[in-house]
Amino acid sequence: MSIADLTPAELTTLVRNAASHKTAVKSGYTPKSLKGALLGKTVAMPFNKRSTRTRVSTEGAVAIMGGHPMFLGAQDIQLGVNESLRDTAVMISSVVSCIVARVHGHDDVATMAKFSSVPVINALSDLYHPLQTIADFLTIHESFPADEAASKTDSLGLEGLKIAWVGDANNVLYDLAIGAQKLGASVSVATPKGYEIPSFMRSIIQGAHPTSNAQLMETNSPEEAVKNADIIVTDTWVSMGQEAEAKKKINDFEGFQVTNEMATRGGAKEGWRFMHCLPRHQEEVNDDVFYGPRSVVFQEAENRLWAAVSALEAFVVNKGKITTSSA
Ligand code: CP
Ligand code: NVA
Repeated sequence: MSIADLTPAELTTLVRNAASHKTAVKSGYTPKSLKGALLGKTVAMPFNKRSTRTRVSTEGAVAIMGGHPMFLGAQDIQLGVNESLRDTAVMISSVVSCIVARVHGHDDVATMAKFSSVPVINALSDLYHPLQTIADFLTIHESFPADEAASKTDSLGLEGLKIAWVGDANNVLYDLAIGAQKLGASVSVATPKGYEIPSFMRSIIQGAHPTSNAQLMETNSPEEAVKNADIIVTDTWVSMGQEAEAKKKINDFEGFQVTNEMATRGGAKEGWRFMHCLPRHQEEVNDDVFYGPRSVVFQEAENRLWAAVSALEAFVVNKGKITTSSA
């Protein structure tokens, strides 16, 4: 449902498995643990919202593993019009091996999980986007590789990194910040006044790993957030489902566009990198940054495939046992 459901070691293993599968498959070798792992199995994908990356990466991952992805768009099935979530979850799960669901309210995916007899993976709800977070930490790991000491302990070596989030407090931020707590990276968040992280979510983030040294800082100043940042991240200011608020939000977020000038004014680290889960709009980041040498956004988008492979392996093939995958 969320990165909050994972221990730090499990999250690290999912990211490491994603990395090793990426290397193997891209060099022309399908690891034994993936080959035919979903042969004869179907993964149902009820999506109540649009998607490019999540759909393409999930369908691609199922195909790599020899299974059949079954995309079920909002217009295609009875769900929401003619049939309840409960009945839909019971029925679909009786004929498939996994449900990967994209929903509006988080309760919807939680309800599906409650009534499903097979694993349900959250493909984005209004609160969380865990597959994105696995891809994001893979991207961060590739951009800031672990030193030798960290590699020996199987850690990703992210302790001491600073991630600055500039923009809206949303689903992508929440799972990223929860993951950062678990992996020891600090997160500093700049939102306009009135758009701060809600207090219930602040408690979830801060409680994600009680012994973590990682900090969660919050401000209304983008420049303050990016001070000493290694990575600057943003996302759309208008998430799916918030279309009616678009005009007001775009006005209220004036001054929050990520630019090289803003990063320099704020004092981001010399080698800072830019991330965005996509889709992207001009207002939240200008072209100089988005298409510039600091941007790892398309690598991040590609990493969605390896995150999906890693998650399907752990939750469907290995039935929730998250262990280091064999080659
Ligand atoms: N980042 C992401 O989830 O993109 P889609 O909405 O295109 O799936
Ligand atoms: N926060 C965005 C992410 C899209 C991938 C949304 O929920 O629409």
